[in-house]
Amino acid sequence: MTQRSTAQSSTTQRVVLAYSGGLDTSVAIGWIGEQTGAEVIALAVDVGQGGEDLETIKARALACGAAQAVVVDAREEFAAGYCMPALRANALYMDKYPLVSALSRPVIVAHLARVAREHGASVVSHGCTGKGNDQVRFEVGLAALAPEVTVFAPVRDSGMTRDKAIEFAAAKGLPIDVTAKSPYSIDQNVWGRSAETGHLEDIWEAPHEDVYGYTSNPGLGKQAEEIVIGFTDGLPDSLDGRSLSPLEIISELNALAGAHGVGRIDMVEDRLVGIKSREIYEAPGAMTLIAAHAELENTCLERDLARFKRMAGQRWTELVYDGLWFSPLRESLEAFMIAASKNVTGEVRVRLESGRAVVTGRRSALALYDYGLATYDTGDMFDQQLSKGFVELWGLPSKIAAQRDRKAAAS
Ligand code: ARG
Repeated sequence: MTQRSTAQSSTTQRVVLAYSGGLDTSVAIGWIGEQTGAEVIALAVDVGQGGEDLETIKARALACGAAQAVVVDAREEFAAGYCMPALRANALYMDKYPLVSALSRPVIVAHLARVAREHGASVVSHGCTGKGNDQVRFEVGLAALAPEVTVFAPVRDSGMTRDKAIEFAAAKGLPIDVTAKSPYSIDQNVWGRSAETGHLEDIWEAPHEDVYGYTSNPGLGKQAEEIVIGFTDGLPDSLDGRSLSPLEIISELNALAGAHGVGRIDMVEDRLVGIKSREIYEAPGAMTLIAAHAELENTCLERDLARFKRMAGQRWTELVYDGLWFSPLRESLEAFMIAASKNVTGEVRVRLESGRAVVTGRRSALALYDYGLATYDTGDMFDQQLSKGFVELWGLPSKIAAQRDRKAAAS
């Protein structure tokens, strides 16, 4: 998809810009040129954000003055290499946020580093502000993958405010509709959608319906629906008996569960930079998959492995949120979770109804659930007499400690 350029003089510096096609990064193309004298290579990475097609975005980058525009369809790569590990970890930051934006940054970083190298660029640029997590994720990732490049962030480092960007676009006659700008800061990909700013900054104010883009209003009373998701070794590979790729499963569930309003999240979140912020997320596919996957783990994982995996998954989630995708601990925890997922194979039935994805059934040839041990009916194989001695020994240490404390209190 990329092509080597031949026309530039060898003295012209090159900057690779992470380009979204929106106002800020469109203005950044010309802005970077004016500030640094470098030529700009715009890189647009498709992580399933939908909206405009890549050719339209490419044309806009060139019209805004990019020397070259490179577009990459990274949807399968993102789904298989980033969303699936997050699912394996049941990744929910602060028990709520499925890492939507945090997951897409490392795949964009991987392509930024590659394109910078292929085009001999010494600078990489992004449109992040200095108040968010995304600047950290871009720059910490780049430091790991392309330590030779420096970073230029026009919004953060050279005063490219929203007002100045609009002014710049008008003065240069850039082909961007500045009035089309939404009041919210939106970031979306196949794993979900995040919205910030506007009225959401009043944390008492309920989100207006126009914030949402991936889900219908769960209050609309759509008829409930049941689906069956199949997993092999912890990864989903079928929906209602049809074999599908990770990208296909996530996309289909986004549509199916989104229509029931599943996966709307309203939270105050702890950013890495120390700020608390109000976020609205929508992740219908991700939340349905996590609910199903976690329940299959409950069925198939041995108790201590399951307890430890929950801790490992939480740590994995924090590392990814905190911009440390390319770190030895994230990679090592992942190796553990792949090993731990070996027997997580089977099917889960999920009911989609009024904003909820509820597991109503699970089956697996590798289940550790044993009817003979669990039943209270005839056929009970569990020897209840063994419990008597077990309970006594289990409570022995705390019983002795309590005796000691009582004695001490009495004397
Ligand atoms: N707060 C979320 C995160 O740090 C979402 C960031 C969304 N980014 C954006 N440019 N709107 O992962």
